[in-house]
Amino acid sequence: MTDTRPPRIARRMADIDSFQVMDLLARARELEGQGRDIVHMEIGEPDFPTPAPVLAAAQRALAEGRTHYTPALGLPALREAIAGFYRDRYRVDVAPERIIVTPGASGALLLALGVLLNPGERILLADPGYPCNRHFVRFLNGAATAVPVEADTAWQLTPRHVEQYWDDRTIGAMVASPSNPTGTLLGREELAALAGAVAARGGTLIADEIYHGLIYPKVMGEERPLPASPTNVGEGRGGGSRATSALEVAPDSFVINSFSKYFQMTGWRLGWLVVPPAYVREVEKLAQNLFIAPSTPAQYAALAAFSDDTLAVLEQRRAEFQRRRDFLLPALRELGFGIPVTPEGAFYIYADCSALAADSAQFSRDLLEQAGVAVTPGTDFGSHHPECYLRFAYTTDMARLEEGVARIRRFLGR
Ligand SMILES: Cc1ncc(COP(=O)(O)O)c(C=O)c1O
Repeated sequence: MTDTRPPRIARRMADIDSFQVMDLLARARELEGQGRDIVHMEIGEPDFPTPAPVLAAAQRALAEGRTHYTPALGLPALREAIAGFYRDRYRVDVAPERIIVTPGASGALLLALGVLLNPGERILLADPGYPCNRHFVRFLNGAATAVPVEADTAWQLTPRHVEQYWDDRTIGAMVASPSNPTGTLLGREELAALAGAVAARGGTLIADEIYHGLIYPKVMGEERPLPASPTNVGEGRGGGSRATSALEVAPDSFVINSFSKYFQMTGWRLGWLVVPPAYVREVEKLAQNLFIAPSTPAQYAALAAFSDDTLAVLEQRRAEFQRRRDFLLPALRELGFGIPVTPEGAFYIYADCSALAADSAQFSRDLLEQAGVAVTPGTDFGSHHPECYLRFAYTTDMARLEEGVARIRRFLGR
């Protein structure tokens, strides 16, 4: 007999949305199945394969039978290697004991919020922002305070927002620099001021640095210095420019990073979390219970992620992402999209399409169905006038980006 009872689904699930971009991607795949050619500018992961030295390290580890659990906090050698990366690239000393290896930045976010947040407590988040954050907060029966941010603050939280939105249930603020979906950064001064404003209220700053390494400070041919605030860059190892880590200006922050984006290891599911010493044991207990340990082969692979050979490959790819940004940004502006702040990181451009269409969700459907171009509507990133925005991801090669722009131009009748 079939069970006719309705499923018993927890109330929280009503507040947890799916990614609309996944529906869009499914439709794009369906169209491709029918023989249509689609330019993919919706995908939030690098199109490059994992660098060869990392693959080789993984193969060696598997051949050596490294398939058992590691400690919950991660392989000691990998925690040392990450500490070395902070020393080399940021000139900052982070004790390896404070570094916890996690199943992606996603695992790190869950652990960080898990040890910090009581039911009913609040976290400030920028809207637009990475949608999973508010869902993690909801999952833990906390409440996300969505702070509407605008181009005038490079889409980032500021001390003014903290002052305005903090209440007696708020325990911290989460930022991502560079941000998804806007690609904009918090400069050193902004980050320090924000951390100061949070600390002054006894709160904790959680800084998601998953797009660090993918930084493009200057637009080629643009002579004047970049507008607005996110201008803090310096030379890092490998000759590339870098963003400021919260660990440089506010060592007591919770800092999240990942091997997914700069290191191009999305499918390996590996990231890390840096916490103040007093929290390590608590994170360890939670990690033991939630995950037992991060993936062992992935950790051995990641030991090769900081080698000179790997960093050389990653820097070439960073240069390629910069070339794409430098093409796509003026091309979209020329088509009539509003992009008031130059995105200096990640691989996203958050473009105001209100001069071209009334509703970005419908616009993205039309672009897919009629022009064969897939982009993500603003609705995936919050509720602060998302109908005005599209997120373009330059995670496809130059020829395809050029084709995508040409198709949008034709669609708009230009
Ligand atoms: C801002 C941000 N944080 C975290 C994540 C999760 O990344 P991971 O693959 O490391 O779990 C993403 C993925 O797109 C992201 O954009």
